[in-house]
Amino acid sequence: MSSLRSLALLLAVTNVAKAEYVWPTKYDHFEDMLVMHSGYRRFGFGDLVVPCGFGSNTVGRQTAAEWVRTAFHDMATFDHTTGKGGLDASIMYETESGENAGTAFNNTLSDIWEFVSPRTSVSDMIALALVASVASCGGPEVPLRLGRIDATEAGPLGVPEPQDSLETIQADFDRMGLTTEEMIALVACGHTLGGVHSEDFPDITGPEDVSPSNVPKFDNTHTEFDPAVVDEYLNNKGINPLVFGKNETTNSDKRVFAADGNVTMHKLADAATFKSTCAEVFEKMINVVPSTVTLSEPIQLIKVKPYLDTFQLNSDGSKFEVELHVRLRSTKGKGYESPPSSVTIDVLDRKGNRTSLQAAHATLKGGQSYGFFSETFDWYLLTTELGVAAGAESFKIHISTSEGEEVLDNGGTGGYPFNDGVISGTQSCLDTTGTQGNVTFDLYSAVRSDLVQDLDGVPWISFAHRMPQQGAVTPRIVVEKISMAEVSTSVDGYKFFKGTATTPSSGWSTRYDLGITLKNGKEVTREFIRTPSTSC
Ligand code: HEM
Repeated sequence: MSSLRSLALLLAVTNVAKAEYVWPTKYDHFEDMLVMHSGYRRFGFGDLVVPCGFGSNTVGRQTAAEWVRTAFHDMATFDHTTGKGGLDASIMYETESGENAGTAFNNTLSDIWEFVSPRTSVSDMIALALVASVASCGGPEVPLRLGRIDATEAGPLGVPEPQDSLETIQADFDRMGLTTEEMIALVACGHTLGGVHSEDFPDITGPEDVSPSNVPKFDNTHTEFDPAVVDEYLNNKGINPLVFGKNETTNSDKRVFAADGNVTMHKLADAATFKSTCAEVFEKMINVVPSTVTLSEPIQLIKVKPYLDTFQLNSDGSKFEVELHVRLRSTKGKGYESPPSSVTIDVLDRKGNRTSLQAAHATLKGGQSYGFFSETFDWYLLTTELGVAAGAESFKIHISTSEGEEVLDNGGTGGYPFNDGVISGTQSCLDTTGTQGNVTFDLYSAVRSDLVQDLDGVPWISFAHRMPQQGAVTPRIVVEKISMAEVSTSVDGYKFFKGTATTPSSGWSTRYDLGITLKNGKEVTREFIRTPSTSC
């Protein structure tokens, strides 16, 4: 498969030029969702798709299969001559169209909606959903690039249907920018999971038993990412309703698989080739995006990653209360396989003084998190207080192992920033007594006094509303900039500001950024803060 090989080569070359990780980035949250599925800290996304056969306890449902199908249908309207369509979440508005029959799409969108945020578009989540499904079912690692932008309305039709002729299906894949070999591989890789629902496609399954539980599968191992769908086709002995169906008109897999005289199918019969080819075509599929979108480099798992979970003023404003986690990748061959003898946080204040503080291995759930592909992570925790008078500039992480001490200074930037210029106020609270289905947040920030005199305008909140959308199950993220006003209370070194955000109660759990703009044009921000749940 020369085109697949050249794609792999291109991606390998792209990977060489990756920049060193500098914390924080706008994709930190996504990297968490990608790898933290169980253990000490977990992000809940993996629960929805593990194990491979899981279907939210709904008869006939296999979530992994639905997520993969959703990614294909969203992408399949792409037109490479215009650069329009592709993986852009337009499927949100297209679930009523005949080519998107079944509940798979709205199920998938309902699964992912709670993860959608100003940093997580629905289309990036659909791409992640494909990656997670394939991983959960024992398939290959599919590299994940981010930066997809969501469509705001339905796109054109264009998903191939089982009754289409081979010429029509080939023309569709050609429009998507995919070759005949890629078409065959993509259909085989997709149809190794799941099956055909009799309720939605009785013409294919036969009218005898139309029920939620009657879902004839594509192969005999529908919960394993393996080439059984290929083997059964080549041996002419199987259960695929799109190959062995009584209705020849809807045997689209049979037509697609034979499109190049079975050359590709014979190659895919080898388990290792099946996996590597599926990784290539799936990666290509999720990277089919509108030509106006530029995707990031593939997400790399971070070896040492800090999480400044708490950084706030204590009640009298004399101390910063700090809770800092450090996550060390401990995956065999890829991280710290034997636990370090110590993990030390070297704190630099704004007067130039340094203090070394020991982080302890977290104890809850063994202090470890687990992800797909046998990924493991060890967690270290530092809970401390730092004097406000001296300020908190940044920290370095020292890791001592039998091989010596490693000092991490945030990719050569000199340290991981505390960012003490703007702090989230502990008084922030939620008022649920509002009218018209809304809730109101009182959001506070503490701004360092020396910055207040340099302010250009007032401190602001960038609040992400999760607005319900007519005709779509996923909310739309609408970001509102809210001005803050100074409040009378203050402490030595900080002045307090308050802003109010009113938002639909259905989307109250969301995120916001706090920020100030200085006269020199520089912005100081504290970002991606979770809305409070404490009552006002
Ligand atoms: C010629 C192209 C294709 C046709 C005509 C086709 C047709 C179908 C049909 C009729 C179903 C049954 C849906 C249901 O009952 O819920 C189905 C299921 C499925 N398709 Fe395709 N498909 C095609 C290509 C693909 C591709 C390229 C992928 C993925 C890359 C894919 C992934 C899936 C998956 C995972 C299912 C199982 C869904 C479930 O069990 O809920 N399909 N396909």
